[in-house]
Amino acid sequence: MSLLEVEDLRTYFYTEGGIVQAVDGVSFEVGRGETIGLVGESGAGKSVTVKSLLGLINPPGKVVDGSVRFDGRDLTECTERELRQEVRGSEISFVFQDPMSALNPVFTVGHQIAEIVEYHTDRSEKEAHERAVELLDDVGIPDPEQRADQYPHEFSGGMRQRALIAMALSCSPKLIIADEPTTALDVTIQAQILDLFDEIQEKYDTSVVYVTHDLGVVREVCDRVAVMYLGKVVEHAPYEELYRNPKHPYTQSLLRSVVRPDERADALNPIEGTMPSAIDPPSGCRFRTRCPVAVDDCARIEPPRIDVGPNHDSACILYKDEYGKMEEPTLHERGQR
Ligand SMILES: Nc1ncnc2c1ncn2[C@@H]1O[C@H](COP(=O)(O)OP(=O)(O)OP(=O)(O)O)[C@@H](O)[C@H]1O
Ligand code: SF4
Ligand SMILES: [Mg+2]
Repeated sequence: MSLLEVEDLRTYFYTEGGIVQAVDGVSFEVGRGETIGLVGESGAGKSVTVKSLLGLINPPGKVVDGSVRFDGRDLTECTERELRQEVRGSEISFVFQDPMSALNPVFTVGHQIAEIVEYHTDRSEKEAHERAVELLDDVGIPDPEQRADQYPHEFSGGMRQRALIAMALSCSPKLIIADEPTTALDVTIQAQILDLFDEIQEKYDTSVVYVTHDLGVVREVCDRVAVMYLGKVVEHAPYEELYRNPKHPYTQSLLRSVVRPDERADALNPIEGTMPSAIDPPSGCRFRTRCPVAVDDCARIEPPRIDVGPNHDSACILYKDEYGKMEEPTLHERGQR
């Protein structure tokens, strides 16, 4: 059994402008010790998905359907109190993009980590402080003993993100959800943080849901990837398979827009157009307004996720059978001609 099983999750926002179908039938699983990437452009519904898992959606938003089974328990059935006391920050912890907003400026970093350790274990104040120093050391902060006594503003951006990761680890969670944790950092620091996620996973065997708009980042850390577009998962596969053999026209476009280190920036090939509103999304396939290989049926049929390879599925009507056969050449194939 997987650690996390998300099935047919739907989260809508009931706004004056209409119902925002931010997450509309999302399913994915995360195994123990596995890292999965949730990838897609801005507005795809990545953050709303991960917040929905932990009951962090506030009005006018609401999880309207679906189940979130975590370690055998359906989190959508839990009360706010149960989630707060038994799940958030203990079994599952979050690492956000902006560490400053998650750190309290008036307490030292060591104090903030020790507090969580004390709350979740029966360690004394002194032991909790020692554990905080150990955790700062684990996340690669030099001179952890001195650093533990400093305040968040005395840390650089990269160090703050490390401190936040130490905080996330302090309760020995089974799952870490990291929402764009490196986006605000420069490229070198970003690479170091990605390495850190790899090390953590090896040492603690923690599962990770890694949210990013950057397929290059996914390559560094993720075992499997779910590609999201306008509230839906359009393709899902192990990273290597997705990278070598992308099936969905959206994934193909995304991969073509990744700048590889050996390419010049002008090789960048962004996807044309912008993502439509989630208030009144296109009928049929939501990607059809930007899809270079769309056919008439794409407006009529909502494509289900179909197996297109081992542990690989894609939601595009051009795939008819299992391990699908394409009727039209793909953008990827066209681009390579
Ligand atoms: N509080 C809210 N009220 C109304 N709509 C919302 C709210 N929060 C999110 N949405 C909408 O839900 C959709 C998904 O947003 P979400 O934040 O999950 O995107 P994302 O994939 O995380 O994008 P980004 O890469 O920019 O973080 C968007 O259309 C967004 O406008
Ligand atoms: S279903 Fe149609 S519009 Fe959607 S990705 Fe496939 S070809 Fe493109
Ligand atoms: Mg987001």
